Amino acid sequence: MARREHWGTRFGFIMATAGSAVGLGNVWKFPYMAGEEGGGAFLILYLGFILVFGLSLMLAELLIGRSTQKNPVGAFRELAGGLWPLAGMLGIITAFLVLSYYIVVAGWTLAYIALSAEGAIHSTDGETVRTVFQDFVGDPVAPLACAALFMTLTAIVVAGGIGAGIERTSKLFMPLLFVLLLILVVRAVTLPGAGEGIAFYLRPDWSKVGPDTFVGAIGQAFFSLSLGLGALITYGSYMTRDDNLAADAGMITGLDTLIAFLAGLVILPAVFAAGVAPDQGPALTFITLPTVFAQMPAGQIFSTLFFVLLAIAALTSAVSLLEVIVTYIKDEHGLRRHSATLLAAVITSALAVPSALSMGLWSGFTVNGQDFLTFADTLATSVLMPGGAFVTALFVGWKLGPKAISALTQDGRHPIPGTGLWLFMLRFVCPLGILWIALNGLGVV
Ligand code: TRP
Repeated sequence: MARREHWGTRFGFIMATAGSAVGLGNVWKFPYMAGEEGGGAFLILYLGFILVFGLSLMLAELLIGRSTQKNPVGAFRELAGGLWPLAGMLGIITAFLVLSYYIVVAGWTLAYIALSAEGAIHSTDGETVRTVFQDFVGDPVAPLACAALFMTLTAIVVAGGIGAGIERTSKLFMPLLFVLLLILVVRAVTLPGAGEGIAFYLRPDWSKVGPDTFVGAIGQAFFSLSLGLGALITYGSYMTRDDNLAADAGMITGLDTLIAFLAGLVILPAVFAAGVAPDQGPALTFITLPTVFAQMPAGQIFSTLFFVLLAIAALTSAVSLLEVIVTYIKDEHGLRRHSATLLAAVITSALAVPSALSMGLWSGFTVNGQDFLTFADTLATSVLMPGGAFVTALFVGWKLGPKAISALTQDGRHPIPGTGLWLFMLRFVCPLGILWIALNGLGVV
């Protein structure tokens, strides 16, 4: 068997993993959720959940991957056997599902780079921009073509392998993303009237906080950190024992949170400066935001930069989702990386069809009253990913237990500190917290 690939440098690994974490979730979802759920209050809750759940689960996934050097299915089989590999399989299926609609929304961002550059969405009139959006997503061909193009870009990166493909792309794109984001922050906070948005964002409004806010903030924490489907098991499986797991997990979590915070600092001040309500939900990015850009000097340039940023963020995340599937096919079924990538990309593109057409040709096809794309997102973020995180916490906390854990955490060059606290989180806090969200989602508590 071929020797397993490894990350070339610590910086490369951190950029790749932060690239997985930083995605549509940070730039598109986080600001609109903060806009709807009490601004600063949401921010505080979110930070708390990241610290309580996020860090321990990230460490758990990375450790499972690094110690086995295997894909999620193989990793669970090696550590425990029995029915546990099914937990890995659930992750692979979830990765297919998430990727199938992620490339659709990511495809929209590609189209929006073009629409923005040519001036088609450069209008202060909300109805005009709404029509452009609806014509685009309602078209029978364009959303599919854009998703296919995005899938192709993703597959090219993954086919290049861990070092020459994923690590190299991330080392280039993540710093670029950061610079673009800083430019946009400076633009947004210096707009006349931005102060009100900044105040809204930083001053907690606890009156908007209800059970929904808690559920939303925990779900967002999992999604944003790429937890619960084996993405970090997969990336961890390309680490070596020289890597400092705890320090890296802290760094990745910090970067992901910083970038979500900065994205909010672009969008909320800009939205307030333009006098638009901040609680527009998912349409905020594709309908409201262009009208905001159209009101600022040189708005067309900033708008185009913004959609480039969004596409970059989406690309490095889609790469990690595809890598979960490719590593699985490669490890478990013995295909070469190139064939595995092609196979995974073709299957995912076919699965993307219902999402790509969900706002046009197939808009009549709904599940649970939701269009297919929204349904797929809800199923993944509210059920499958928390479920995966739940099982992972139980697995490391109870099944592996303190002895196996201390063997695993001591075997690297940098032992993991605070194992007792970490174990307590995984055994009690994470599972009970997730159970509580689930019951809440079902309307039981
Ligand atoms: N974290 C990404 C975002 O914020 C989405 C994502 C990428 C993801 N890979 C993942 C979510 C793996 C869960 C699991 O957009």
